[in-house]
Amino acid sequence: MSSVVVEGLSKSYGTANVLLPIDLSIAEGEFVVIVGPSGCGKSTLLRLIAGLETPTSGRVLIGARDVTALEPAERDIAMVFQSYALYPHLTVSENIAFPLRMAKRDRREIATKVGEVAELLELGALLDRRPRALSGGQRQRVSIGRAIVRDPAVLLLDEPLSNLDASLRVKMRHEFARLHQRLGATMIYVTHDQIEAMTLANRIVVMSHGRVEQVGEPLALYRTPATIRVAEAIGSPAMNFMPVRIVHADETGATVAMPGGAECRVGADARADAVGLDATLGVRPEHLRADEAGPFGGRVELFERLGPLSFAHLGGNEGSFVAQLPNDRHITLGEAIRFSVDPGDAQLFAAGGGAYPRVTP
Ligand SMILES: Nc1ncnc2c1ncn2[C@@H]1O[C@H](COP(=O)(O)OP(=O)(O)OP(=O)(O)O)[C@@H](O)[C@H]1O
Ligand SMILES: [Mg+2]
Repeated sequence: MSSVVVEGLSKSYGTANVLLPIDLSIAEGEFVVIVGPSGCGKSTLLRLIAGLETPTSGRVLIGARDVTALEPAERDIAMVFQSYALYPHLTVSENIAFPLRMAKRDRREIATKVGEVAELLELGALLDRRPRALSGGQRQRVSIGRAIVRDPAVLLLDEPLSNLDASLRVKMRHEFARLHQRLGATMIYVTHDQIEAMTLANRIVVMSHGRVEQVGEPLALYRTPATIRVAEAIGSPAMNFMPVRIVHADETGATVAMPGGAECRVGADARADAVGLDATLGVRPEHLRADEAGPFGGRVELFERLGPLSFAHLGGNEGSFVAQLPNDRHITLGEAIRFSVDPGDAQLFAAGGGAYPRVTP
C-alpha cells in the first residue's frame, strides 16, 4: 500500500477545463470515495492518477515517488472501469491471470492466485468461459478479479458496481469492505450510490464542476456540509432546500422568514450578513417533525412506504419537499401536513451557496 498525493493537478481538452487544479492527499491504506454529479470530472481525476491521461498541469505522487511521467504499468496501481474491458478471446481464468503473466510470475503461483480470486468473487464455475458468454455482472466481477490479482498498492475503482443487480451490489459492497481490510490497499472509489459512499469511505471527496467542493468523514459531511452542493451530493432522499429571508441574527442563531410568512429558528451564525438577505434553509427529511403549529407545510403528493422507513413528498408554499414519517402514521394523498424542525437540525446557506457556521442554540 502507498499514499497518493495530487498537487495542482488539472486537465483541459482544448478550451474546456474539465479539472481545475486539484490538491488531494490520501493516506496509505485509506479508502476514499469520490462523489459528484455526472460530468464533474471524477473519472478524469482517476484516469490522471492511473496515468491513462496526461495532466495539463500538476503532479501525482504514489508513495514518495513522483509518477507523473511514468506509464500506467509502472505505477503499481490497478483500475476497474465504469465499462469493464475484458479480452474477448481469453477465458475468465486467462483474463484474471493476465496481469500475472505479464509480470512473468510462475505458473503455480498464477494458478493459486487465480483460484483465490475466483473463490472470493464466486467465479469458480465460470473460469473456462469467454466474456461474451457472461452476464454484465459476471463480467464486472472478472474485471475486479483482474485488478486485485496482483495485490496492487493502489486500487482505483470507477463505479465498479453500477452494472450489478441490487442483491449482488450489496454482496459486493461487503466484499469491498472485507477486501480493503484484507489487502490493506489504498482505494479510491467513484460511485453515485449513497450507501456505498457512506459505508465504505474513510473519507468522501465531493466534486463539482471540476473542483473539490469538500473532503471529510462521511458523517461530518452529512451533518455539516460546507456548501449547498455538498448537501445535495450526500444523503438520499436529498436534503430539502427552501428559499428564506434572514429577519434576525444573534450569537445563538438566526430567525428566517419562510415564503408562507411563518418564521423558523436555525442554529446558524448569520451575523456576518445583513438582515433582510435571501438565504436557503436546508432540512433533511428525517429532521422534519409533523407539528400543527410548525412554520411550513404542504399537501401530500406521493407517499412511499419502504418497509422500515416511510417518505411523504409534499408540495406547498415552500416548494416541493420530502419528509420521513413514522411508519405507523396514517397518510392520505392530498392531506395537508405542517412541520417544524429543531434549530440544531436545520442548516442555513448564504446566497452564494456557502453554509453559515453552526452554533448550538
Ligand atoms: N476526451 C475528452 N475530450 C473532451 N472532453 C472530455 C473528454 N473526456 C471527458 N471530457 C469531458 O470532461 C468532463 C468530465 O468527464 P468525466 O468523465 O471525468 O466525468 P464524471 O464525473 O466521471 O461523470 P460520470 O458520473 O457521468 O461518469 C465531461 O464534461 C466530459 O464531457
Ligand atoms: Mg465517470
